[in-house]
Amino acid sequence: MSQLLLRGRVLTFTDAPKSIDDTASYSYFEDGAVLIENGRVVRVGDHAALAPLAGPQAEIVDHRPHLILPGFIDTHLHFPQTQAIASYGAQLLEWLNTYIFVEEQKFASSAHADFIAGRFMDELLRNGTTSAVAYCSVHPESVDAYFAAAEKRNMLMIGGKVMMDRNAPEGLRDTAQTGYDETKALIAKWHGRGRAHYAISPRFAITSTPEQMEMSRVLVREHPECYVQTHLSENRDEVAYATSLYPAAKDYTDIYAGYDLLGKKMLLGHCIYLSDREIAVLAETGSVAVFCPTSNLFLGSGLFDRDRFQTLGARFSVATDVGGGTSFSMLETMAEAYKVLHVQGQRLSPFASYYMMTLGNARALGLEDRIGSLHAGADADITVLDSRAKPAMELRMRTATTLAEELFILQTMGDDRSVAEVYVAGKPMKSRLDKHPAAGP
Ligand code: GUN
Ligand code: ZN
Repeated sequence: MSQLLLRGRVLTFTDAPKSIDDTASYSYFEDGAVLIENGRVVRVGDHAALAPLAGPQAEIVDHRPHLILPGFIDTHLHFPQTQAIASYGAQLLEWLNTYIFVEEQKFASSAHADFIAGRFMDELLRNGTTSAVAYCSVHPESVDAYFAAAEKRNMLMIGGKVMMDRNAPEGLRDTAQTGYDETKALIAKWHGRGRAHYAISPRFAITSTPEQMEMSRVLVREHPECYVQTHLSENRDEVAYATSLYPAAKDYTDIYAGYDLLGKKMLLGHCIYLSDREIAVLAETGSVAVFCPTSNLFLGSGLFDRDRFQTLGARFSVATDVGGGTSFSMLETMAEAYKVLHVQGQRLSPFASYYMMTLGNARALGLEDRIGSLHAGADADITVLDSRAKPAMELRMRTATTLAEELFILQTMGDDRSVAEVYVAGKPMKSRLDKHPAAGP
């Protein structure tokens, strides 16, 4: 048995905070500890209570004065867009055609896909993200590269081959039949292997014919254990084009509803221009709207109206959407989320932010028994945060007096430098990464 005792200031959520002073929604141990055995959390509590439980062989790591939290979870990003972040000057459809569909063609090469997959996983870890949901490219080899890189690091990752059979360059198109066949084979190969979960991934209504949507329906029916991911209502021109391609649908949401794709396992990127009717359909079906603040600002897409989702009882999660998104950091993502909501007169408390990055996103994925909080039996995926990682943060922290203030400073000023260490199933990853950076071309 391998035992590990982490000491530090431990923060983990048990529920969504209802207000800025809702102390019942989280556990916080000022001199706390997490006891880990064989990659799983055994107990969380005061260091004084946990220290006697560690055996003589236990490894002890003192992270004081840093904060120990569950690893962050990113619910939407694109692994083949790692080298396309910061592509200038275009909104969604032009950006896809000018930059993204060029970049994604490079993933026809397995060697390229392998290299980027390794760097992608390392970048997530460097930023404190231990689990994520990503689109791969249309090439099945890119999915192999993605899950192999995750398996090598023992990360719980969700992903799938993008399916797209129209409105894209020839090198990026599958067909309704090959999209189906390749997805079936990839599910058989990867879903449930180690910590891997598969996401059936029709890119969006614009790049899938009705025949491919029909095949997506069949895949979802045949594989209810898999996630489903697509994009919905991100940009006004996209909404107009998508609905013109499916004239029988009531609205954009009705396109996906018409192929029985909505449900608890469905993750819908963006959801900016939805009517109340559409949000009500998401609520009824338990589908998850994914809020991607850095992407929505960078691509000039618009503002996610969180309060309307809350009022209408629809589920939502938060994500980077790299490479439309501009950072792998969930801290930077929440800094932008705060601003996107603030400009609409909506509040995002620091506790609500940290809940969303951890337990909130785990619940959106239905994985709260495994990840997103530090409870007995959970996988020991852990992020250690340093609130004084930059000189300007150190200076600002001198005036902070509460945990809420500290969390807000970390979110507003922090980035990968604020992540002191990351554990995946009880194994330290960030310190190793710094010692052994991935090789490559
Ligand atoms: N809609 C369809 N594909 C994409 C993509 O790759 N990124 C974003 N942001 N939106 C999309
Ligand atoms: Zn996306």
